[in-house]
Amino acid sequence: MGIQISPSILNSDFSRIGHELERISSADWAHVDVMDNHFVPNLTLGLPVVESILKVSPVPVDCHLMIEDPDRWAPAFAEAGAKSVTFHAEAAAAPIRLARELRKQDARAGLALKPTTAVEPYLELLPEIDMLLIMTVEPGFGGQSFLESMLPKIRRTRQAVKDSGLDVWIQVDGGVSVKTIERCAEAGADVFVAGSAVYGAQDAAASIAELRELAAQ
Ligand code: DX5
Ligand code: ZN
Repeated sequence: MGIQISPSILNSDFSRIGHELERISSADWAHVDVMDNHFVPNLTLGLPVVESILKVSPVPVDCHLMIEDPDRWAPAFAEAGAKSVTFHAEAAAAPIRLARELRKQDARAGLALKPTTAVEPYLELLPEIDMLLIMTVEPGFGGQSFLESMLPKIRRTRQAVKDSGLDVWIQVDGGVSVKTIERCAEAGADVFVAGSAVYGAQDAAASIAELRELAAQ
């Protein structure tokens, strides 16, 4: 599939969400962060708002669920039309069953790992998922600094995906910017979430193009 850019709308202006989504129409995805104030210490938006976003988004929606009990809540996001639904390994009771349910709803199934969660115990799930999300900040807030120490984890994940022969995407999320994206790409990531880097720029399209170019090198 190659390099993909998924701008996070977390730091966009929610009073003008339609306009904010139009700003990223040259991206591959719109990354929507769902937080429940339990799994992470922040509260953002839930299914009704995601449904509104789905109606107007010019690009497919990539839902990142930072919530407790994704087994119960995640399938509804796929049913609503999100083309990619990512849940956290730390929160899921039955990740294989959940991933299968998401795929049955025609969504890509993503498995996310917090920075302190090792990837190795989850590698046996590779045939069941479409994407592994390696968090490069502690989930909860936009605008944090990229954790350099995640680069070896990305590298090990890429090697494991390569060895498996499967087409599982590797997404990075947190502190991805023109300063860090090249190192993420070099380590093996191929789907890049960027929140403040894109929405903090005057020209979001130019920022997406620049990120894409740097990642492709
Ligand atoms: C953080 C979220 C991210 C966040 C990224 O928990 O999952 O998607 O919006 O924002 P930046 O790119 O500013 O780190
Ligand atoms: Zn996210």
